[in-house]
Amino acid sequence: MNAPVMQGLSLNTPSFVKNPRLIAWVADMVALCKPKDVYWCDGSEEEYQRLCQQLVDAGTFKKLNPAKRPNSFLACSDPSDVARVEDRTYICAEKKENAGPTNNWMAPAEMRKILESGQADGTPALFDGCMKGRTMYVVPFSMGPLGSHIAHIGIELSDSAYVAVNQRIMTRMGKAVYDVLGVDGAFVPCVHTVGAPLAEGQADVKWPCNKTKYIVHYPETREIWSYGSGYGGNALLGKKCFALRIASNMGRAASEGPSGSPGWLAEHMLILGVTNPEGKKYHVAAAFPSACGKTNFSMLVPPAGFEGWKVTTIGDDIAWIKPNADGKLYAINPEAGYFGVAPGTNFHTNPNCMASLDKNVIFTNVALTDDGDVWWEGMEKDTGGMPEHLIDWQGKDWTPAIAKETGAKAAHPNARFTVAAGNNPALDSQWDDANGVAIDAFIFGGRRSTTVPLVTEARNWTEGVYMAATMGSETTAAATGQAGIVRRDPFAMLPFMGYNMSDYFQHWLNMGDKLAKSGAKQPKIFTTNWFRKGDDGKFVWPGYGENMRVLKWMIDRIEGKVTGTETGFGVAPTYSEINWAGLDFSQAQFDSVTSLNKDDWKAEIALHTELFTQLAYHLPKELEETKTQLAQRLAA
Ligand code: GTP
Ligand code: SPV
Ligand code: MN
Repeated sequence: MNAPVMQGLSLNTPSFVKNPRLIAWVADMVALCKPKDVYWCDGSEEEYQRLCQQLVDAGTFKKLNPAKRPNSFLACSDPSDVARVEDRTYICAEKKENAGPTNNWMAPAEMRKILESGQADGTPALFDGCMKGRTMYVVPFSMGPLGSHIAHIGIELSDSAYVAVNQRIMTRMGKAVYDVLGVDGAFVPCVHTVGAPLAEGQADVKWPCNKTKYIVHYPETREIWSYGSGYGGNALLGKKCFALRIASNMGRAASEGPSGSPGWLAEHMLILGVTNPEGKKYHVAAAFPSACGKTNFSMLVPPAGFEGWKVTTIGDDIAWIKPNADGKLYAINPEAGYFGVAPGTNFHTNPNCMASLDKNVIFTNVALTDDGDVWWEGMEKDTGGMPEHLIDWQGKDWTPAIAKETGAKAAHPNARFTVAAGNNPALDSQWDDANGVAIDAFIFGGRRSTTVPLVTEARNWTEGVYMAATMGSETTAAATGQAGIVRRDPFAMLPFMGYNMSDYFQHWLNMGDKLAKSGAKQPKIFTTNWFRKGDDGKFVWPGYGENMRVLKWMIDRIEGKVTGTETGFGVAPTYSEINWAGLDFSQAQFDSVTSLNKDDWKAEIALHTELFTQLAYHLPKELEETKTQLAQRLAA
């Protein structure tokens, strides 16, 4: 390939970059995006401080009061750019059926015209000149411990310094990645632009973005192209785009070769360790949809009545899971930091998280206090009252009176913090282990105000896959669009699935078969719902740390200490099987979060049928059979 001639622009390739394919690709992207210069990130502390200062100077960051929140910053986004944009997210597989009915699809050649080469009617390509007047940051990162056999490398080219500094927290980012990459190592190319080129002399805005947005994945060539947004999963491309949408393709492809390998799984799951008073430790991976409790559960503090129990965090959002030589499933957290939901987080709900946020944090879209600290809805529970005055996430004055009158939130409901895993006092000692931790149980949980019980256990792997596949959940502020609408969110992966959903169900069933054949014990599969509401519209289950009571019942099931009781929807705990020490929760309250209502379940099964109709192509027949059995049990 001929490196294109850059008029007056040198790539300035540092000597530590030795991969010709990478250098040629950067040259191509420079020719397309036409940035004013190229900066190769080395991941150093000095660089982080310099880029943060640059963001302060540009008005994107506000430095928080160092006496309150050392080395921490607040960014407030454009009000139009506050969450993932699912309707603008594409899986551009060559064949539409390989993206499947749950994904937006366009043929790669068509998408490349829009993004890279220009359209027949003369419309220029979106990426052509998209970085004019801006710096292109070359951000090298490893998803997973550097050099781990489970890890993979990505290179993100971005015109956002905000992205570069966030990536340093969220991933293993920096020079060491190039040592692993070497001369001929593989990487996933990720191109990101805010889509806001600057003309000569044009002043920048605090949060550049474009009202046109495209979050594009080419699964066959393993590329990511993101246009128009600077926020979260739209822009930090190692996270959802790579670690879920592209990695899910990698994991399944690994099962298709002649090697007979079962492949691996890329899942929207937290990973935690739970140690009992005797010192025996288990590992649990749990999939809850966006803003449905993963970060909270992964940092759980056992309540009164659970003396001697300990929960430790391996990951809070994504798990890469592979069978090992011993036949067991091992999970790693591909990330190195947390991009977590701020509202609702306080010392009562998540003390470990609050302690993590003491210092070295980037906050996005929370409110600013008069003494230069941060605030969000939920913090009043710690201080016993609302602050008298704040600057809200949109830069406007906020008082309790204004909030009462207009309903204005001080923090955006999807306001987030970016913080290194190392800040978490509950961090598991094995969180960075290149081989991962052996998984004993999976949990799938949605946010449902009705119908779905607090906890059940699947009777077998296939029933567990069925329960995960048909899970419904109410939408949240983590994605644009209306919140509170129940939709099917199979495996909590609806927005993150990189190929056909039915093929993914099959991959899970195959994985279970292979585990069984290897003689390894299959992890148990549970479902949970922390969010059932009473007639008063309030959550009945206290949640948060109290979820330990449910977790312990799961461990008791693994150890065979309790039997549970058969219900229409799996095996459920009896009231007496739960440890209630330290909590006043009556049998009647328990019944109200565990009962199965026949009419509700008739409607629920109809929604499963609707989903299976949508997913008919390649839908595993075992799931249809499971549905028939379940419907009969629930109607009995
Ligand atoms: P993503 O980062 O979007 O993937 O979200 P997440 O799944 O990590 O959710 P997170 O733990 O950040 O919680 C999201 C919201 O749900 C927060 O406002 C929490 O306060 C609330 N929440 C978490 N756990 C519970 C619970 O057990 N009960 C109730 N009622 N709310 C909870
Ligand atoms: C989610 O929406 O599940 C997140 C936040 O974890 S984002 O990184 O924006 O996808
Ligand atoms: Mn998430």
